[in-house]
Amino acid sequence: MKLLVTGGAGAIGSNFIQYWLKTHPEDEVVNLDKLTYAGNLENLKAVENNPKYQFVKGDICDTGLVGALLKDIDTVVHFAAESHVDRSISGPAVFVQTNIVGTQVLLDGAVKNNVKRFHHVSTDEVFGSLELVSQEKFNENSLYNPHSPYSASKAASDHLVRAYHDTYGLPITITNCSNNFGPYFFPEKLFPLAITNLLEGKKVPVYGEGLNVRDWLYVEDHCRAIDLVLEKGKVGETYLVGGNNEVPNIEAVKLIFKILGRPETMIEYVKDRPGHDLRYGIDATKIKEELGWEPKHTFEEALRETVEWYRNNESWWKKIKSGEYLEYYKKQYDGKR
Ligand code: NAD
Ligand code: DAU
Repeated sequence: MKLLVTGGAGAIGSNFIQYWLKTHPEDEVVNLDKLTYAGNLENLKAVENNPKYQFVKGDICDTGLVGALLKDIDTVVHFAAESHVDRSISGPAVFVQTNIVGTQVLLDGAVKNNVKRFHHVSTDEVFGSLELVSQEKFNENSLYNPHSPYSASKAASDHLVRAYHDTYGLPITITNCSNNFGPYFFPEKLFPLAITNLLEGKKVPVYGEGLNVRDWLYVEDHCRAIDLVLEKGKVGETYLVGGNNEVPNIEAVKLIFKILGRPETMIEYVKDRPGHDLRYGIDATKIKEELGWEPKHTFEEALRETVEWYRNNESWWKKIKSGEYLEYYKKQYDGKR
């Protein structure tokens, strides 16, 4: 089988490519990535010389390039996106371009080239926010109710993917996953930001009172879920993927402090994110019952491994935390104190 993975130089995409080449060594993988600030070929050092792996630098909005690449592709796994909520608040236009227009360009190319499966990697954020104190969780029947430009653009992409199935018969599947963590996550997301700030002796910014809840999942469990959906999932269907692991931000941050042995005086409460969703929680019954998926990693153990990875890969994140990143950090956090 030959796969086109979009956004394979990002956090989840690079974990997925490494996972796929290990578990399906007979398959070929083409990685199409624009290498935005979030794309990093160092994430793929382990596979760069693998003859089954090919990297193409390019934009998913480039119709000609996408059409040419899709000519002999069996399966598309579509990760490429602008993925950070805070950046979508300060600059939404690129989110519309990549997440909506880019997805539509890929879908068109997939129809024209009779791709056998188009798998769309989406997020639980499309469903909006749950009450902090409630038993309710998101499931496949939850209504779409996005609040940030990021989640609105991902919601639009989900709708387009379903529309291409219903209108043109494109064989699609969708996964909507909760918050991922693990190696190669860009230090703008909460966990890698907290870990690397602490390793540098800097404070950790926590929005509001830190009471917002996220459902954390180790990235390898997400990769395995996508693998199972590709293998056994029903065409046209959506599967929700989550860690069954809802944790208030402040508790997650305090666990990172404990693992690194740092004092909690290094927590800095800052102004809240506008439109900040209170709580995400996934009911993953469908993927468990239909495909036999559940997370294999426990939260604390996987978080310890992740902290260890950042400790051992200082040169990876130190290179990132310079230049453009420092400007972003200043703009994002200086006005919040
Ligand atoms: P990321 O920001 O780390 O990586 C995104 C990648 O896409 C980068 O390599 C970037 O260079 C590439 N890219 C961006 N615009 C592009 C374009 N126009 N053309 C080609 N490549 C482009 O993102 P991530 O956290 O790895 O997320 C990957 C996908 O998973 C996204 O679709 C996101 O919505 C979804 N998702 C993420 C999470 C999470 O917790 N991070 C959870 C659920 C779903
Ligand atoms: O739920 C899945 C989503 O998870 C993905 O679709 C997104 O691509 C991914 O970025 C992530 O979105 P979040 O907004 O939940 O992740 P983030 O790491 O930005 O923030 C996690 C929580 O921590 C959130 O409640 C905001 C808070 N936070 C975040 C940052 C960056 C802080 O308190 N301080 C911070 O500095």
